[in-house]
Amino acid sequence: MTPAPHHAPSSVPSSAAHTGQPAPLSTPPSEARNRPSNPWWVDAVIYQVYPRSFADGNGDGMGDLPGVIAQVPYLQRLGVDALWLSPFYVSPQHDAGYDVADYRNVDPRFGTLADADELISTAHDAGLRIIVDLVPNHTSWDHEWFVEALAAEPGSPARNRYVFRPGTGDNGELPPNDWSSIFGGPAWTRTENPDGTPGEWYLHLFDTSQPDLNWENPEVHAEFESILRFWLDRGVDGFRVDVAHGMIKAEGLPPYAGFANMVKDAGDLPEFIDRENFVPPTPYFDQDGVHEIYREWNRVLAEYDHEPCLVAEAWVAPVFRLFRYVRPGEMHQAFNFAFLVSGFDAQRVTDAIQESLDEAAVVGATNTWVLSNHDTVRHVSRFGLADPTSYPEGIAAEDEQPDHVLGRRRARAAAMVELGLPGSAYLYQGDELGLPDHTTLADEHREDPTFHRTRNTEAPETGRDGCRVPMPWRAEAPGYGFAVGAAEASATPADPWLPQPEEYRALAADQQVDVAGSTFELYRELLTIRGELDLGTGAFEWSRFHDPAQGIVSFTVTTGGGKHLGSGEPIPTQTVLVLANMGASPTAIPEEYTAAVFSDDDALVNQQLAPDSAAWFMKQSAPEA
Ligand code: GLC
Repeated sequence: MTPAPHHAPSSVPSSAAHTGQPAPLSTPPSEARNRPSNPWWVDAVIYQVYPRSFADGNGDGMGDLPGVIAQVPYLQRLGVDALWLSPFYVSPQHDAGYDVADYRNVDPRFGTLADADELISTAHDAGLRIIVDLVPNHTSWDHEWFVEALAAEPGSPARNRYVFRPGTGDNGELPPNDWSSIFGGPAWTRTENPDGTPGEWYLHLFDTSQPDLNWENPEVHAEFESILRFWLDRGVDGFRVDVAHGMIKAEGLPPYAGFANMVKDAGDLPEFIDRENFVPPTPYFDQDGVHEIYREWNRVLAEYDHEPCLVAEAWVAPVFRLFRYVRPGEMHQAFNFAFLVSGFDAQRVTDAIQESLDEAAVVGATNTWVLSNHDTVRHVSRFGLADPTSYPEGIAAEDEQPDHVLGRRRARAAAMVELGLPGSAYLYQGDELGLPDHTTLADEHREDPTFHRTRNTEAPETGRDGCRVPMPWRAEAPGYGFAVGAAEASATPADPWLPQPEEYRALAADQQVDVAGSTFELYRELLTIRGELDLGTGAFEWSRFHDPAQGIVSFTVTTGGGKHLGSGEPIPTQTVLVLANMGASPTAIPEEYTAAVFSDDDALVNQQLAPDSAAWFMKQSAPEA
């Protein structure tokens, strides 16, 4: 399948006039490719749609699948290769859909199964692949299995699908162990027997409404294999696997008084890392047994000939542990959170890139690169903080307020690093508009269970609502045009489920699409060039400009070379030099390149690259005779 059509790279922007000879690159994609056997996901740019907040197709204030269908042309125009949709399944929404009550149906808030089918075919017709979210660590407490388990006896087969245990203490009044929930509070909740007396406890690494499944039970394996097939048969191209490191718990559920965090922290690591005999710090994450599950799933996916893929959301450390998820015969990709948390800091970004490239090579996998998602403060906001490497769990009105102008400038530069790197890249909806978080959201609007579970504790957390604010499509429409498609025309759509900050008005899609210099057009240009030159499969090298101590990240990516498989004609080499200035002073640029893209109009000052800016310099070399 061919990805969205790529446009010829626009001619060299005026700011690149320093080279004196604008020379747009001209090799058509088919010639630059010369790699017919790679699966589609190897170099794909994948756009995360958070259905609640992407586009509202029926005007009820909540995003939905018809809304996504209506915006497919927008995604096509942006030039991404695939969509990943966060959960749209039947769910009471205690964790925004990551609490699934029925894995084989669509929640009425988001539409119908027919809408899902229509979205899959609309996306495919537009040349876009589609990845859905799979949540195997836990179900919702509304799932029929859990309802059945609560009604059943201790020790029954129904309870054995989950992790039920008797309590400790004289009368079972204390939890079975000391584990904490990732969302705050204990990881255990006590049940009530049908006669009203207190009963067993069940494990939930997340919210009380998200009981952990028992992956020691073959019935659970069989059920998920069937869920995979259900969606594969409907044509999906892959699964993003939620908490992929969580399903298997250490034998005997040993005590662990520590606290693991989402995305950033996998628990406390020892000072000396023994790769061969590494013991994961937490007894409920990254246990060896999870890999057996992925080998099973890999075999299921291999039965389908459209190259479906498995993508791991696994917050594990050190980085070499992550790449164990993408060993041959397991998953295909894993989110690179080391890159995400490195912030806007040349040394940290360098280390994350180098380590990822090294570890990927060990297992023969390719890389992914990501800057934000629905669980993190958006990078525009993070990069606008006094310390652009900080990683807050959310930003509230009483916290340090980011400088979003600076944050966006840095975010545009960071996008040029992300999209220049070989491998696959993940964009979170709104990255392409340069959206920040809502950093002054009133508490009464917050829905994230993290906020509610920790608000009266010693360590209150703001939670993730700030990055989940509905997309602004049209500056002058109610809700900045969140209601799209048919709903757009309806009298008064309901307010979006979370209020949008005023600064979203100027960032709305209709203020950026086709507007020279906008963040959207920068992304589009980078994606166009990336596609044309096949940067995603290029060869990486740090460039002679690379100097992290001075805040400079710089590398080259080279594609082409060799000969056409058919005609035997030599193929010219294309080289892109990525230069990002994360330091405090202007820095030299290469002279020998013939075309360039800059992160901002004023990135080039006196023939030097200004701080908080980046550029792509390109040249084509004649084929070797
Ligand atoms: C993943 C999701 C997050 C969710 C959690 C529990 O980390 O990305 O949004 O809250 O899993 O399912």
